[in-house]
Amino acid sequence: MKKIISVCRGDGVGPEVVNEGVKILEIISDYTEFDFEFKEAPAGGEVWKKFGNNLPEQSFETIRNSDALLFGALGLPDLPLGVAESAIMKIRQGLDLYVNLRPIKLYDILREKCPLKDEFIGSGIDITFVRENTEGLYKNIGSIDEDSAQNLMLYTRKGCERIIKYAFEFAKKKGHSKVTSVDKANLLKPSQLWRKIFHEIGENYPKIQKEDIYVDAYCQWLIRAPYKFQTVVTGNMFGDIISDEGAFLIGSLGMASSGNINPRNVSMYEPIHGSAPDIAGKGIANPIGTILSVKLMLQESFNSLEIGNEVDKAVEEALKEGRTVDIKSEKLKTLSTEEMGDLIAEQLKNRLKK
Ligand code: IPM
Ligand code: MG
Repeated sequence: MKKIISVCRGDGVGPEVVNEGVKILEIISDYTEFDFEFKEAPAGGEVWKKFGNNLPEQSFETIRNSDALLFGALGLPDLPLGVAESAIMKIRQGLDLYVNLRPIKLYDILREKCPLKDEFIGSGIDITFVRENTEGLYKNIGSIDEDSAQNLMLYTRKGCERIIKYAFEFAKKKGHSKVTSVDKANLLKPSQLWRKIFHEIGENYPKIQKEDIYVDAYCQWLIRAPYKFQTVVTGNMFGDIISDEGAFLIGSLGMASSGNINPRNVSMYEPIHGSAPDIAGKGIANPIGTILSVKLMLQESFNSLEIGNEVDKAVEEALKEGRTVDIKSEKLKTLSTEEMGDLIAEQLKNRLKK
């Protein structure tokens, strides 16, 4: 099965972690019916410095004509805030990638790396955040002058319906018994519309329990009883915040993956960590966030649940042998980005050969 994958390596540690993601895709291409072809689509701060544009037309065309996009990270410390990062927004808006899927799963062997006490981890952490990815404050409708600044928090019925429906379908597919909706309906009008639509759509899923939580309380419950949550659906701004909180619970921000998805369009898969300029070029970044984003690509864009699960198992097995510095263990070898990728690739190869 031929698939074209566009690759945007980006800035900072982006190229280092993307190398490892590509390595995993190459193994899959060698050992399964998939046949991947890679096409570079440069974007970000380095590209902006060269061309004065963080997303050249040519790159966007390459992305648009591919089957999926593997993305690193954007941002350079010597550029003004947002100059590089805004390319992500252009891609999300330009391809109407209305779902931001952000799973956080704490592998059992990384339990000691979770910042929570064992009693709070309870039966474990395995949550998927389904963040609306095109509306709300991120529409960036607003203005700023010396005396005031404003942004419009715009939620539309269409926007709410499609993301909430996606979340329920996702929960159904995963066999989840509950969908939690996070809002601020005690104050904000967009949240009131959101909550109404959440229950309207929820009626079509009688077997799934529905739960509403205000975003401030949710931030507390996420560290107090994370084991209670399965699928969590929320708006753009709240999703940005709670998904970062959640990402740290799995041992390291470097472990967290994401998909920017439109089920009918090219979707984009990226680790949720940023370009991490402080460690760029040192070869120590954790590639697992990117490798688990490849897992999401397989499962969400290429409909291959099975191979995605093999990637997951390969990661879990590799973690028993060695770790990058952010999740290091006294008992195991501390590995470079490339060595960590090699270990996972080796595990995956053995699993796919069988
Ligand atoms: C994320 C990032 C972006 C966002 C930034 C870089 C604009 O924090 O993907 O969560 O806020 O969506
Ligand atoms: Mg964020």
